[in-house]
Amino acid sequence: MHKLIVFVAVLAVLSQAAFAQELTWRKDIQPIIKAQCGDCHGAGEPEFAEWLVVREKNKKATPRMDTYNHFMGFVAWPATGAMMRRLDDGKGSAEGKPGNMYRHLGGSDAERAKNLATIKAWMGEGAWNLNRWEARGNTPGMSKEQIDKIKAKY
Ligand code: HEC
Repeated sequence: MHKLIVFVAVLAVLSQAAFAQELTWRKDIQPIIKAQCGDCHGAGEPEFAEWLVVREKNKKATPRMDTYNHFMGFVAWPATGAMMRRLDDGKGSAEGKPGNMYRHLGGSDAERAKNLATIKAWMGEGAWNLNRWEARGNTPGMSKEQIDKIKAKY
């Protein structure tokens, strides 16, 4: 009996680990981003640095986020934490206000919640931080420890 419990527990841990490892950009995240964000953040848009330039003349311009590298630029650097701040449902911020891109995550509360949970799980345990690169007000800048938490498997 004792052995059986240990066996089941080990199995449970193993299968959890396998599930966490299975989430990848190619299989799980890119399809969400393509479907929900692609109309505005697709391949035809300027990359982040160019967008900053273009935006000065065209307020409606949007940055490209359709590839892994483009997307990660809004997670780690140079637009540190932008993805988390814009997609957060309000639970990650002190004010409790959802980010202004959260509503694009799906057509219903359930779909938005599901897609957000998938993206968070893919990013990694403890990786969902809304900090910027630089400190702002009372909020410290993103720490090396926080960056280290980002798994985001390709
Ligand atoms: C209808 C068009 C539209 C859709 C769909 C859309 N966005 Fe946006 N997004 C914008 C516009 C316009 C901006 C720039 C204005 C602003 O900062 O809010 C923007 C800005 C952003 C930024 C901030 C970039 C920065 O560095 O400041 C992020 C991150 C972002 N979007 C993520 C997403 C994600 C992820 C999705 C899909 C879930 C999405 N957006 C869907 C129009 C859209």
